[in-house]
Amino acid sequence: MLDQPPLTNLQTRDIEAVLHPYTPLHKLKTNGPLVIERGEGVFVYDTQGKDYIEGMSGLWCAGLGFGDEEMVEAATQQLRTLPYYHLFGAKGMEPAIELAEKLKEIAPVPISKVFFTSSGSEANDTQVKLAWYMNNALGRPNKKKIISRQKAYHGVTIMAASLTGLPYNHIGWDLPVDRVVHTDCPHFYRFGEAGETEEQFVARLVKSLRDLIEREGPDTIAAMIAEPIMGAGGVIVPPATYFAEIQKVLDEHDIMMISDEVINGFGRTGNWWGAQTVGMTPKTISAAKQLTAAYAPLGAVLVPQDVYDAYVSHSEKIGTFGHGFTYGGHPLGCALGVKAIAIYQRRDILGHVRNMTPTFEARLKKIADHPLVGEVRSAGLVGGVEMVADKATKRSFDPKKGVGAQIAKFCENRRVILRAIGDTIAFCPPMIITEAELNEMFDRFELALADAEAWVDKEGLRKAA
Ligand SMILES: Cc1ncc(COP(=O)(O)O)c(C=O)c1O
Repeated sequence: MLDQPPLTNLQTRDIEAVLHPYTPLHKLKTNGPLVIERGEGVFVYDTQGKDYIEGMSGLWCAGLGFGDEEMVEAATQQLRTLPYYHLFGAKGMEPAIELAEKLKEIAPVPISKVFFTSSGSEANDTQVKLAWYMNNALGRPNKKKIISRQKAYHGVTIMAASLTGLPYNHIGWDLPVDRVVHTDCPHFYRFGEAGETEEQFVARLVKSLRDLIEREGPDTIAAMIAEPIMGAGGVIVPPATYFAEIQKVLDEHDIMMISDEVINGFGRTGNWWGAQTVGMTPKTISAAKQLTAAYAPLGAVLVPQDVYDAYVSHSEKIGTFGHGFTYGGHPLGCALGVKAIAIYQRRDILGHVRNMTPTFEARLKKIADHPLVGEVRSAGLVGGVEMVADKATKRSFDPKKGVGAQIAKFCENRRVILRAIGDTIAFCPPMIITEAELNEMFDRFELALADAEAWVDKEGLRKAA
């Protein structure tokens, strides 16, 4: 392992006071956090003034990078005008109205209403509650289960974490709750069987979904939720026909498709929505993250007219629509959402993502030749590099060795921040990244990869356990 420099005062104070999400807590005590002080463009700077290329846009969210003056100005103006208000009890405010109108305009399917939350988890939690509410309104009280997928990531509230299909979100947390069932992950490289074509793989997954629905009972299933491109499960791009084929099965049984666009949305894959990139036709949509380019927290649920009509009828029966968050539709978030979308359109950020995609793909393709790399995958400006102990057999490293996490640390030492998802290294740079910065990001990563190879060999980690 790497030598640890002495901890700074801020690191020591952090260890004493902050409980860190998604962090091996036992290691933090000795290693301390990387304390970031400021950001500019695609770079962030630590307290020692060292620059890092933020190759993950923070948590797949800071699509306009750091320090965008237009965003800062929009925030300041909104805070001066109306720093807080809400939408409860039939109150309204212009930023929320304007953002809802804008989302309706750019949505990939006809949308009638937008419900605001503070985060992606709350958006997905809300999706589940809304599906239950709708089916109660429609007199289908048993149609309540939600299908999700292995390796899906939908957040961390009790229901969102239940939808998530990752072991560390369930083990030790008494999750998933019932009413959630998981189906297969559409990752051909990992789960395709020997000799199977992509089409045969899709057919097998479709059959497995059909079997699951029949086993559970179609009348008990309300919806299926899916990220078009899976993010935190390892940047998994499904086979081209996957969504069209599974949606046929869902349609047969009146099971709604919910698109979780929390990472995919707002240009990340080269289209406004990931659904457009993968040929998915959702009924409802969850959004967050790049909705405000991460300049303020905000999430949203987009629903069509017939779904909304069901809420209205139930609200009439019960007396109100009993759901809402204090900060759902916060004016700061909404003003920044309006501004972010205006910037995406005016600066043609989607066009820029499409222009940068060939370089992104070419650099990933070059990395694919590395002996420790099993697969590279990407869509637009989100990508993953899966590390393996044996390229020929696709054998993974022993998970206990933490190879991915160690590579992320080598990356940090080489001044590029990337995320290890198991042994897949994820890339999701700010969408404003230039060609030169993209190349610099991959140059830094390649140095880290060389460090990793030397370390793997020194530790003898390629050998089978
Ligand atoms: C696809 C997806 N859905 C939902 C979430 C949860 O969002 P949040 O962390 O804002 O609650 C995430 C977060 O990474 C995500 O990637």
